[in-house]
Amino acid sequence: MNILILGSGGREHAIADRLARDSGVESVFVCPGNPGMKITPRLQVLGGEVSLDHVLHLVKSHHVGLVVIGPEKFLFEGYVDALTRAGVAAFGPSKAASFLEESKIKSKLFMKRFQIPTSDFEVVHSEAEAEKAIAAHSDWAGFVIKLSGPALGKGVIVTQDAADAKSAVAQFFLHRPPGIEEGVVIEEKVSGREVSLFYVCSGNQSQFLASACDHKRLRDGDQGPNTGGMGAYSPCHWIDQAFLNRVEETIVKPTLAGMIKDGTPFTGMLFLGLMVDGSRISLLEYNTRFGDPETQTFLPILAGNLSELLLASATGKMGAFSAPKIPGDANVGASGGSNDSSVVTAAHGQYSLHVVKAARGYPGLFGEQIESGQTIHASGNPSDWKEARLFYAGVKSANDSAHSGAAAGSATHENKHEASLALITSGGRVLGVTGFGSSPAEARSRAYQHLDHIHFQGEQFRTDIGGVT
Ligand code: GLY
Repeated sequence: MNILILGSGGREHAIADRLARDSGVESVFVCPGNPGMKITPRLQVLGGEVSLDHVLHLVKSHHVGLVVIGPEKFLFEGYVDALTRAGVAAFGPSKAASFLEESKIKSKLFMKRFQIPTSDFEVVHSEAEAEKAIAAHSDWAGFVIKLSGPALGKGVIVTQDAADAKSAVAQFFLHRPPGIEEGVVIEEKVSGREVSLFYVCSGNQSQFLASACDHKRLRDGDQGPNTGGMGAYSPCHWIDQAFLNRVEETIVKPTLAGMIKDGTPFTGMLFLGLMVDGSRISLLEYNTRFGDPETQTFLPILAGNLSELLLASATGKMGAFSAPKIPGDANVGASGGSNDSSVVTAAHGQYSLHVVKAARGYPGLFGEQIESGQTIHASGNPSDWKEARLFYAGVKSANDSAHSGAAAGSATHENKHEASLALITSGGRVLGVTGFGSSPAEARSRAYQHLDHIHFQGEQFRTDIGGVT
């Protein structure tokens, strides 16, 4: 089978890298991809722009049997619906089902209707309604104010006290950012530890893939501004099979049943963002795609034939896929079922850890400029790494760039073959390295050891990924 992946970041690099290693996969294409992805064997970076017509053309010209969608944007734009109508298997939810991620209001109301454990909340449409709601919940430990629409992480404000909450909502209603028409969610702030869980789904079928813990703050010790994620580890060592069983019963099954009942069956990746406080589990949010950087973390240690599982999800044939249960092992699937050869789950006893290197100025708050155009120097040949993987995200080719300065003429990768890559930075999160091994400590030391082979001016990274979050 030939596979086409849409997107250009580290997440898409990791998906492409993992699928290229599956037996039965002939070629993996990425559109647009990024030039750093060329370090991965059997992967073809197509460049260009993503549009539906272009994707349909690529499917035909490259004999593609499965399209895997990276960024949620394409889900919200109905790519899966259009590809399915054209008879092309596409991994991801329909536009109608992707409201679980696209609309914070609709997804909270869905959770409430199907008794899925989540924090208490109110939906408001004016400053006056907001003041009333905040005053009525003076017992909450704090307030989370969320814009409903997809605001790329910028639509969430967390405050401790009522006065700050009121002024945050007032700012939203004053400046009326996109999505404000739908309203604002005012939510009880819950505390605890966060974990991300990933399930490949189709109708009422689900297959647990992995758990991961993401580090969202920019600096060590969970300091500094929130980012898209500065690193993660997998599996999450502080959950067990009993926890996964509970999530399966109280969140995954009711979600899938609710979606069927509402006439919008869910297909694709169900990514749960959970907060865990002792025995209390709260669903913070649904996402409807692979996580970033969780995907770069867990895919390198995922065993089994992932391409077959994604195709089975896309074509409604997931019945043949089920994972075994090993009590107490958080690596294994929670759905139960037969112990057949089609199991896709984290390899038993394998651990991984991913560290991101970001550009100076990232995440670009308060108008700070995110630096670009810095030469990336990689020593050795990352294509040959055995215990780690390098995934490129915000990079471009120095040769294609109008930018001169630091990048001009610089050899980057020491290896002759890779010197032709000549990459420069072009985005906030530039690259990441995943280390893996038979213990969390081994995964961690391999990640940091290999990360030290890649440098660029102004790089920012955390030195404490894998520490307590
Ligand atoms: N790491 C969180 C996300 O992908 O949204």
